[in-house]
Amino acid sequence: MSATIKLENKHFPVLLKELISIISPLYGGTFLDCTFGQGGYSKEILKKKNNKVIAIDRDKEVGLFAKEIKKKYNNRFQFYNIKFSEINTIKLKSNDLKGIIFDLGYSNNQIKDLNRGFSFRSTARLNMMMGINDFSCDEVISNMSEENLNKVFKYFGEEKFSKRIARKIVDIRQTKKINTEDLTKIVDSVKKFQKYKINNSTKVFQALRIYVNREISELINGLINAFNLLPVGGVIAVVTFHSIEDKIVKFFFKNYSEIKNSSRYIPNKSNKIKRFLLKNKKPIIPSNEELKLNPPSRSAKLRFAIKTSHESNFDEFKGKFRQLTDIEKLQFEK
Ligand SMILES: C[S@@+](CC[C@H](N)C(=O)[O-])C[C@H]1O[C@@H](n2cnc3c(N)ncnc32)[C@H](O)[C@@H]1O
Repeated sequence: MSATIKLENKHFPVLLKELISIISPLYGGTFLDCTFGQGGYSKEILKKKNNKVIAIDRDKEVGLFAKEIKKKYNNRFQFYNIKFSEINTIKLKSNDLKGIIFDLGYSNNQIKDLNRGFSFRSTARLNMMMGINDFSCDEVISNMSEENLNKVFKYFGEEKFSKRIARKIVDIRQTKKINTEDLTKIVDSVKKFQKYKINNSTKVFQALRIYVNREISELINGLINAFNLLPVGGVIAVVTFHSIEDKIVKFFFKNYSEIKNSSRYIPNKSNKIKRFLLKNKKPIIPSNEELKLNPPSRSAKLRFAIKTSHESNFDEFKGKFRQLTDIEKLQFEK
């Protein structure tokens, strides 16, 4: 276990009160926490004696927090070190699964551990692996073609200067190995005359993190797996932190909670059965009180939906975001 994991690291689970109020009418069953992290949501759910939690996280370093919870709650809690795309392998002991929750993005510990290279304040190796990865960010920056780097920055970071940043990376890497600090300097040098509210490097770091962890495919497969695991009446709740994630979740819930007809007179067979009941069309966002206590929560959006049918062809959903999942498949020579 890494020494950098600290149990005392203060952590505020985002939109906790709001999430709990969505799932509590379903209490008295099992909940699947797909983003265990420091266990903020899991612990709150377990406070009610008739609840059980199955938690997963791709980061094996969170095992320390999972152990603490296991000690306290014993057979009401199980933890698996797997990814969203693998939750379909979980063998449920009973059919009382009531809710599946996702709190996307990186955890407090991942960003604060400067050796993991998630933070642009780090001076270490570019790593950015959340866990169970095929390659690190280091390998991407050292080997990916200029054209593909540009695509990653443009589509996953919505970075206006993607082309110039990609070109500069390819230039600089011929003379030295680029670490986290070098990458922020490269971005700063390209954007030197720009004045933004966010750090110059935020978009490039977000883009690389998405690519290294295949976050788009993970989210899409995770939502489909969650739907398939859940009985009718169960709820899926998702907290997102950036616009690409939110677009995906919004489409998934909204598209499958409406009956769409191309014409009023011709019924559209493919989308006849609603799969979700959507109580809130708008996302839930943090209160002023939460924003004061935990300013990074400002980009969080919570969406949820209740499953109403087993209809499970999601080709339209996958097709809608194929351009992004294809970019995650771009290869590079190692
Ligand atoms: C924002 S944190 C969750 C914090 C948690 N709700 C809490 O209160 O402590 C997100 C966690 O999800 C994990 N994660 C992200 N993508 C994942 C994936 N595809 N599969 C499994 N875990 C993932 C990360 O490793 C991280 O620990």
